[in-house]
Amino acid sequence: MDDIGLSSTGTGNHAMRDRMAMGTGNALKIGLFGSNCSSGRAVTKVPERWTGNWEDNLALARLADEAGIEFMLPVGRWKGYGGDTDYMGTTLETITWATGLLGKTKRLVVFGTVHAPLFHPIIAAKQFVTADQVGEGRFGLNIVVGWNEDEFQMFGVTQREHEARYDYAQEWIEAVKRAWGPEQEFDFQGSFIKLRKVRAKPKPFGGTRPLIMNAGASSTGRAFAIRNCDAFFTQASRTSMADTAERVKEAKDEARGLGRELDVYTVGVITCKPSQKEAEEYYRYCTIENADWSAVDGILGKKNISAATVGEEEFQRQRHHYAHGMGGLLMVGDPDRIAQTLADLSHAGLRGIGFSFVNYLKELPYFCDEVLPRLERMGVREKRR
Ligand SMILES: Cc1cc2nc3c(=O)[nH]c(=O)nc-3n(C[C@H](O)[C@H](O)[C@H](O)COP(=O)(O)O)c2cc1C
Repeated sequence: MDDIGLSSTGTGNHAMRDRMAMGTGNALKIGLFGSNCSSGRAVTKVPERWTGNWEDNLALARLADEAGIEFMLPVGRWKGYGGDTDYMGTTLETITWATGLLGKTKRLVVFGTVHAPLFHPIIAAKQFVTADQVGEGRFGLNIVVGWNEDEFQMFGVTQREHEARYDYAQEWIEAVKRAWGPEQEFDFQGSFIKLRKVRAKPKPFGGTRPLIMNAGASSTGRAFAIRNCDAFFTQASRTSMADTAERVKEAKDEARGLGRELDVYTVGVITCKPSQKEAEEYYRYCTIENADWSAVDGILGKKNISAATVGEEEFQRQRHHYAHGMGGLLMVGDPDRIAQTLADLSHAGLRGIGFSFVNYLKELPYFCDEVLPRLERMGVREKRR
């Protein structure tokens, strides 16, 4: 028993395949990424930047639920990046955030983004079960191993070297899955995690388990996702849909080689306005003219990216890249262009995308009114119920 529900063929209401479908028949699943953090993923000083507060998150979740958006994916962040706005300095903890949103929505899948090294696996497993019970099978888990040294210092925890982070995460997810599984009592004897006579009841909702995702970018992180997860989030190529299609195919094939089904997703940033010109102007206003450059440089500093380490040209390229949402595919355009890009991503084999806006609540209604119907006409999403 290491993957409860995976062999299920979808006969039960909450079989694993249904969980992976996130409750809709849409070929391209759509999610909102990063709304639990102040400023979301836009490193900008504009006054309308995202508050990240509960009231706005709740309103956003209700809007998304109503519009048939499939999921919300939070960022697990414990400490802001400084700068003029203390970028991501105010954050809602993601498991409790997800539980609250699940209690107030009907269809939306809500993820918790959890640092394996900071959460005891048995406490975490029970928190996930509780969220999943509240959401009647709509909780999802994003496992992260962490990369910000100063966040770990805050907890008095020493960051392991990169490969060992995933060795630890492997034991951690195995322990979580055991706690979710049918055993009445078990011992766990890992090299990091040792547990005696564990009892864990209740179990996740409906006899399956929460969706599990990971977004490892290194070969070790990617292999972890392929081995353990239902969804792997990877970067889409900024220049070639054919490259993206190849990356998707390779990951899915590798998972199949292990007897597993894997969905591949990506992340992006959207600025959608009635005309191309307006979209480009708003993008320039938010993430060039009013970027919080001191915060951007703080983020890059943590990754050891500076003019000295990568050269001036690459440094400037990275600065602009990070200002527009900490990475991910940049989509700036009118509804036709945005819909076409999303449809192309779907045709490249991606199962879905999580994206952000500068102000999610203000921008989502226009996206739903203009882009979703286009995606329906293009055949990558069904008519809204
Ligand atoms: C969609 C997505 C969400 C992520 N969320 C977080 C997060 O909330 N917290 C975090 O520390 N890292 C997060 N990451 C970082 C990844 O989990 C991963 O550590 C990173 O891509 C580097 O890959 P590596 O760990 O294989 O080196 C996220 C990455 C992506 C693409």
